Amino acid sequence: MADSKDTSKTSQPDLEDSTNVVEKHEKVLELSASQARENQISETGMEPVSLWVFLASAIVLLIGGGVLGAGGKLFSYSPHPEGYTRPEFASDADTGPTIGPILEALSKRGKNIYAKCSGCHGSTGNGDGNQYPPLAGSEWVTGSTGRLAQIILNGLSGPIDVAGKTYNGNMPAQAPLTSAELAAVMTYIRNEFNDVGDVVSVEQAANAIKDYESRPQGAITVPELNADHDTMLEGEVVDPSTNVNFETLQPAAAE
Ligand code: HEC
Repeated sequence: MADSKDTSKTSQPDLEDSTNVVEKHEKVLELSASQARENQISETGMEPVSLWVFLASAIVLLIGGGVLGAGGKLFSYSPHPEGYTRPEFASDADTGPTIGPILEALSKRGKNIYAKCSGCHGSTGNGDGNQYPPLAGSEWVTGSTGRLAQIILNGLSGPIDVAGKTYNGNMPAQAPLTSAELAAVMTYIRNEFNDVGDVVSVEQAANAIKDYESRPQGAITVPELNADHDTMLEGEVVDPSTNVNFETLQPAAAE
């Protein structure tokens, strides 16, 4: 029958042949399906993963993440022990050169020098109300810088009235102090514990040290202070807002 077919009429299928086509087609499908299976198996590591594996993993990750995240208690991300606060640097040496008003520069340095005094006069300058007189509200601090400088350098003995109360003890000499140290501690106690609002310059402090060196050694007394030193120290008056370098205390341009 096939022989008798005209080639131009092959588009017209006969019924016997079409049953064969269906069979063949099924075979082809079977073959390609098994081929596809072979391909999947052969490429190790590239096998498709079932959806439920993804879902299960996602659930595990979500729950796990939640547990860790909720967990200041299970886990701490801080390397420091509980309650740790970072200490402030106490020293001003490692903050590098700063520029600012000389009143601030001297007071800052004076605060360090005042450590020499705070054991007796107290960190707030209030003394102890008994043996050690206060520097806060004392006219020996706020008054003439000549007397104040000599008390600090020589020490003091004998009776002294401070803020309405008489003290009679002995203060040890605080010399040697450099002129910068003396200027700093005087500026500090005049402005931190009182409101004088001026600075004792390094030049003025240097003149006080000259006065100290020209008198005999030993603690000074109130009569000598009033007779010889009840004046403001010699030296140019410096405007407290003058900008200086905190290290050198020399005038500097504003930042
Ligand atoms: C060991 C203790 C002691 C130390 C340290 C000391 N003082 Fe005094 N200071 C005294 C005593 C005591 C008096 C009173 C002396 C008297 O009665 O004659 C006094 C008196 C004074 C006075 C005059 C009275 C008044 O209260 O205003 C000044 C100012 C003063 N001290 C400043 C200083 C400064 C500044 C320093 C540090 C650089 C210093 N003192 C360190 C014990 C001390």
